[in-house]
Amino acid sequence: MELRLPNVVIPLHYDLFVHPNLTSLDFVASEKIEVLVSNATQFIILHSKDLEITNATLQSEEDSRYMKSGKELKVLSYPAHQQIALLVPEKLTPHLKYYVAIDFQAKLADGFKGFYKSTYRTLGGETRERDGQCREGCNRECFSKEASLHLGPEGNPQSSGTCSQAQHSIGSEKYQPLLTKVKTIELEGGLLEDHFETTVKMSTYLVAYIVCDFHSVSGITSSGVKVSIYASPDKRNQTHYALQASLKLLDFYEKYFDINYPLPKLDLIAIPDFASGAMENWGLITYRETSLLFDPKTSSASDKLWVTKVIAHELAHQWFGNLVTMEWWNDIWLNEGFANYMELIAVNATYPELQFGACILNMLKDFLGEEKFQKGIIQYLKKFSYRNAKNDDLWSSLSNSCLESDFTSGGVCHSDPKMTSNMLTFLGENAEVKEMMTTWTLQKGIPLLVVKQDGHSLRLQQERFLQGVFQEDPEWRALQERYLWHIPLTYSTSSSNVIHRHILKSKTDTLDLPEKTSWVKFNVDSNGYYIVHYEGHGWDQLITQLNQNHTLLRPKDRIGLIHDVFQLVGAGRLTLDKALDMTHYLQHETSSPALLKGLSYLELFYHMMDRRNISDISENLKRYLLQYFKPVIDRQSWSDEGSVWDRMLRSALLKLACDLNHAPCIQKAAELFSQWMESSGKLNIPTDVLKIVYSVGAQTTTGWNYLLELYELSMSSAEKNKILYALSTSKHQEKLQKLLELGMEGKVIKTQDLAALLHAIARRPKGQQLAWDFFAQPVLRPRKISQCIKDTNYERQGSGNQRLCHHISDYQKLDVRVYQEG
Ligand code: BES
Ligand code: ZN
Repeated sequence: MELRLPNVVIPLHYDLFVHPNLTSLDFVASEKIEVLVSNATQFIILHSKDLEITNATLQSEEDSRYMKSGKELKVLSYPAHQQIALLVPEKLTPHLKYYVAIDFQAKLADGFKGFYKSTYRTLGGETRERDGQCREGCNRECFSKEASLHLGPEGNPQSSGTCSQAQHSIGSEKYQPLLTKVKTIELEGGLLEDHFETTVKMSTYLVAYIVCDFHSVSGITSSGVKVSIYASPDKRNQTHYALQASLKLLDFYEKYFDINYPLPKLDLIAIPDFASGAMENWGLITYRETSLLFDPKTSSASDKLWVTKVIAHELAHQWFGNLVTMEWWNDIWLNEGFANYMELIAVNATYPELQFGACILNMLKDFLGEEKFQKGIIQYLKKFSYRNAKNDDLWSSLSNSCLESDFTSGGVCHSDPKMTSNMLTFLGENAEVKEMMTTWTLQKGIPLLVVKQDGHSLRLQQERFLQGVFQEDPEWRALQERYLWHIPLTYSTSSSNVIHRHILKSKTDTLDLPEKTSWVKFNVDSNGYYIVHYEGHGWDQLITQLNQNHTLLRPKDRIGLIHDVFQLVGAGRLTLDKALDMTHYLQHETSSPALLKGLSYLELFYHMMDRRNISDISENLKRYLLQYFKPVIDRQSWSDEGSVWDRMLRSALLKLACDLNHAPCIQKAAELFSQWMESSGKLNIPTDVLKIVYSVGAQTTTGWNYLLELYELSMSSAEKNKILYALSTSKHQEKLQKLLELGMEGKVIKTQDLAALLHAIARRPKGQQLAWDFFAQPVLRPRKISQCIKDTNYERQGSGNQRLCHHISDYQKLDVRVYQEG
């Protein structure tokens, strides 16, 4: 049996009805699907998971017209593929329409999939179990997917149709679907039946509905879309930033894509139990609380940046992903890649002070030029609106956008002076974009460019960048075979500011340098998605330049150098010494993002050493770090002042200082913590240092216990995250063990936070072994952790669980290598 559903019965429209019972925690539902038959068949195959189908009937269009009742269908199920087959007595006739009606029921699910229940605590301490929601990836268990979509669900993004819904709700509970409500009918016993409009044509995996008693704030965009932010009743005061940001970002996207958001409303909702960070359901975007809520008292500058990024990301999906959906899941990375890319564009355009980032699409934008890139995107979205598309369709739109706009607007592209300065002049053929992008999308990983300067020529070589497997390892060669990228290279030299460009399409190549130069820097502004290794004196020349006058290299180039040097240490191509040589210059660095980059790598290496318990090396590194960063650490104030970058840098520097036991830092944090405890948690601590203060406070048993109490009571998820992190920094194993137990129990520490907790514990010297045993030993390994191990089979580094698994195994490998190297 195939995993994909056959294309013989095509869904056109779904009528859904659901009646959830939030007391007995179950629901009954019925649906009527209008289908078109393309080939004669005796089976209608649908997806279904954990549903009890109580009745299934079929009507022809004619039966329906004459109100004839439907014929009973036999239901066969194949749980292994989460499929059911409805057996039709006589073969269905091609090109005719039919109506399939199904009644079913199920329990509201535990966990995060399907129509599941979520709980929240009120200020008064009551736990409410009053919200159920259906979200992505749940299609087979979830009513709305069942009803509306199971002809496609998880398996089948292209299956689409329109849908209309009816729903029962109780008293003040609101039914919150992606649709707008048309009417409410009052039934006996106080039941309310809400009716909703028919949707636009859409993919099945994007339907969501929620029953809850949440409160909201709303605003209207300049084009008239009503945007609302929902949160549990006591968190309404944390919704204002999200409203402001989403109104701004929705306006931005409508202009950028030149296509209006097609629904009359957009809801963004913070769900107390949510497996991933957020999900882009059309018109009803669901978020983990920390991805949407901003609490002025406890959310830091980096929390704000995160909220902004997640909103920007999910709003981008409303076009790229929802309006145009990938034909099959193999292209889903492009959805995500594009949304990641738009995060940068949107945040940079709407909140310039928050600027960050690079990715494959950014490289393509740099290659094509910004204007052509945007035109291509618009063309793609317009051409494939309410339809499915493939990777290749995007590459064609991007390479054709110039030609088509020439046709309609009289040659704008070719007369655009910006165009001649980028790689387009090299292209000639449109096929080249597709050919180039295929090397980035169909191959795993990223390339490493190895550069060697030899007098007036540069010898270039590309290989697959591997971390954890070193050149001298026996498997290295096999892992390199058949890997080749088309890399759009850019470089500048010590002798001029000119940006040179070259496409590297072969394993090796040689470039002539126009003049004598002391250093060459590849990947200008870090726009490319590759790592560069300079052989011979290459790194030394660059390090000398950084130490003499770092400003001759652009800030993004300095960030790129720091990134590459540490990546190469991890890959065994450079010694840690070389990376430390480079970071010497950071004492003079004035760019906060560059300093932050350097600090984050140094901290990573420090923690690695600390975990290996080789005290002389970690003590040396500690002294080194404090010696070089003391002046800038001592300049920091314990406040929330300054730009976002200043604030994030302050958090990082003070955190490092306290982690390194820098006495003035520990003293200040301990002082703030005891004042805060004396005030019974009422004192406002600056948000950017909150995590540091809690972490220092958590080192005493009294402080730790107090924080755990507060963890349960806090109404701010941003604060709870900081407390949980602080609790995990304890040096007492029994405390860490207690946290793991609470996480497994899922009451005080919600299951959604278990992955982050394990990650935090695994990073501590006293926690590494504990976390490893917890998830690596089959006897100790509970079911939730098995999922995590299963996740490591995926190459994609997506959700928190996967990231956790990667981290633990990567660190262990890397730790060993660093120490073997000495
Ligand atoms: N569509 C994804 C979430 C998703 C991906 C759910 C795959 C299920 C399977 C969403 O747009 C997303 O990317 N969410 C991220 C947060 C985002 C800001 C990067 C997440 O949940 O981690
Ligand atoms: Zn996404």
